[in-house]
Amino acid sequence: MTGETFKKAAVIGWPIKHSKSPLIHGYWLKQFAIDGSYQAIGLSPDDFVSGIRDLVARDYRGCNVTIPHKETALAMADYVSDTAKAIGAANTLVFKDGKIYADNTDGIGFINNLKQGAPQWNASSGPALVLGAGGAARAIIYALLQEGAPKVIVANRTAEKAKRLASAFGEKVVAITLAKVPEVVGDVQTLVNTTSLGMVGQPALQIDISGLPKTALVTDIVYNPLTTELLKQAQGLGLETVDGLGMLLHQAVPGFEAWFGVRPVVNTTLRQIVIAG
Ligand code: ATR
Repeated sequence: MTGETFKKAAVIGWPIKHSKSPLIHGYWLKQFAIDGSYQAIGLSPDDFVSGIRDLVARDYRGCNVTIPHKETALAMADYVSDTAKAIGAANTLVFKDGKIYADNTDGIGFINNLKQGAPQWNASSGPALVLGAGGAARAIIYALLQEGAPKVIVANRTAEKAKRLASAFGEKVVAITLAKVPEVVGDVQTLVNTTSLGMVGQPALQIDISGLPKTALVTDIVYNPLTTELLKQAQGLGLETVDGLGMLLHQAVPGFEAWFGVRPVVNTTLRQIVIAG
């Protein structure tokens, strides 16, 4: 099954065995009866660049790239989208005529998850508060600004890292420490946790969000557990919440469309498959 019509894509990481991406793309391949495959391939940092070149030579349509390769993927690409450039990392590569096109779909995946899970939500309705200042925070801040957020506050344990991140985006983004969160939540309309706190095996995120307006939306990029303590706390306050699983599902959409030629939809069956897997 290696004829010209057989379309091949993959996810590359190190380690790779816990990746949910094969489940997601496998579901869509089956749903649309596409003659194609999507595999998980483990490549160490030393083997990453040659491994990608090998996929290009073997007529792969492209691949997803995950930890720890997102920066290297960006650096080795022939063409880089404005989004990937701004985020400083690539998670989706498309191969065409021997060239590598790099994009980053984490931010749009975050936004489309909120649009699906909370149709009334609008980034421009007020300031956003982003907890954490790592790679995920960077993608999300970029996307929130693109969607019209008037201001983004980045709160992080390590103040210096939040400051550095904020300064990369200009005056709409300001940095604070986690301890200051209760002082700023009063007019926040979107609160997102991008830290690993609250994830199974990690300490809980201990933060007082009781001062959030009743109209605020609370979301978490942690999806194991699906309903984190932060989301429970928000629900207890009567606030709207969206869990983080949808971000993972929505970030996969543009890659699938580019490689396989069909734009898939994130539905509850896919959610159940990924939860069960
Ligand atoms: P990613 O690229 O996936 O976003 P990361 O770069 O490792 O991951 O960032 C993890 C984020 O979680 C950081 O903001 C980190 O805070 P520091 O910059 O202070 O390290 C935050 N984080 C992780 N463990 C934490 C903890 N125990 N308390 C507070 N913040 C924590």
